[in-house]
Amino acid sequence: GAGMLLDTYGRRAVDLRVSLTDRCNLRCTYCMPEEGLSWLGKPELLTDEEIVRLVALAVGTLGVREVRFTGGEPLLRPGLVGIIAACAALEPRPEVSLTTNGIGLARIAPALRDAGVDRVNVSLDTLDPDTFATLTRRRRHQDVLDGLAAAEAAGLRPVKLNAVLMRGVNDHEAADLLGWAIEHGYQLRFIEQMPLDAQHGWDRSRMVTAEEILELLRARFELTPEPSTARGAAPAERWLVDGGPATVGVIASVTRPFCRACDRTRLTADGQIRNCLFATGETDLRGALRSGASDAELAELWRAAMWGKKAGAGIDQPEFHQPERPMSAIGG
Ligand code: GTP
Ligand code: 5AD
Ligand code: SF4
Repeated sequence: GAGMLLDTYGRRAVDLRVSLTDRCNLRCTYCMPEEGLSWLGKPELLTDEEIVRLVALAVGTLGVREVRFTGGEPLLRPGLVGIIAACAALEPRPEVSLTTNGIGLARIAPALRDAGVDRVNVSLDTLDPDTFATLTRRRRHQDVLDGLAAAEAAGLRPVKLNAVLMRGVNDHEAADLLGWAIEHGYQLRFIEQMPLDAQHGWDRSRMVTAEEILELLRARFELTPEPSTARGAAPAERWLVDGGPATVGVIASVTRPFCRACDRTRLTADGQIRNCLFATGETDLRGALRSGASDAELAELWRAAMWGKKAGAGIDQPEFHQPERPMSAIGG
């Protein structure tokens, strides 16, 4: 209908990603520096009520069907459970999911389920506690494993694992990670490292590509493409492992971008709409909201933001510029 979030390339955004905070309790080397970043201040952050109002608008008026909470690390947001409960109570009920690093998930998983979270995606790049400490600069590997087990036990399924491979650090673990994930019933996806780190240290020639990842896995497993009808607008291309039913996904954002099927819109923790992970511009909903805009006015701003969405991220073009804000501020 006319109220939807459409763009000039015929795509429709039905998947809303909401960043709840830019802060994080890990310091993944592919994301942010050891000292952290200059975090958003309280007055800049949307309040819980403001977030719920915007999600309600997206779901009730703009045709959004799935809401994913991200960060930074979303479990660091004090009002998380209340925000989720309010969003899960909307009509029509959206699918509600969370992307987290897993720290603290063990304690909160049952409350998340009770509030209405359907499923979680958890970052896990390594099975080795020391490599974990090298990659994230924190000794919290066991916390993540405990979080995973608790999420599974709470029924937040399917639990998906996200792994970024860094050359010479954890790339030798690709097949081990897959074997381990299958054993535990988690759906593993490998993600190509994207130019979204705060330090601007991304180097195309160092990136472990989807092709390399598949080769590493094929040393131990037989991979056959999953029938393509299953992909839809999901960023991961999936393979059946040893004939299935287990699968492995690869999110090849750099070498095989999925922009053509993209169905996403993003709300940052400080109330900006981004029409793409790699967008260079944002639309300020917070300003409008705080100066008394009506729902109809906010909806119109949101539609205009999406109408301006480009065909693709353009990572493969020479004039590609990394967005000003890093991934932790945008929301993965
Ligand atoms: P589901 O498949 O629905 O579970 O979600 P997802 O894979 O989109 O979510 P998740 O938050 O786990 O993200 C996995 C990876 O995909 C992260 O590295 C994200 O940054 C990346 N990703 C998410 N959205 C986009 C996008 O719009 N474009 C690109 N290129 N990558 C994205
Ligand atoms: N490139 C690819 N993936 C990244 N993530 C964080 N930064 C990057 C990056 N530069 C991953 C996290 C998490 C997911 C949301 O995105 O590991 O699993
Ligand atoms: Fe935190 Fe995620 Fe960035 Fe790691 S990738 S530092 S877990 S926001």
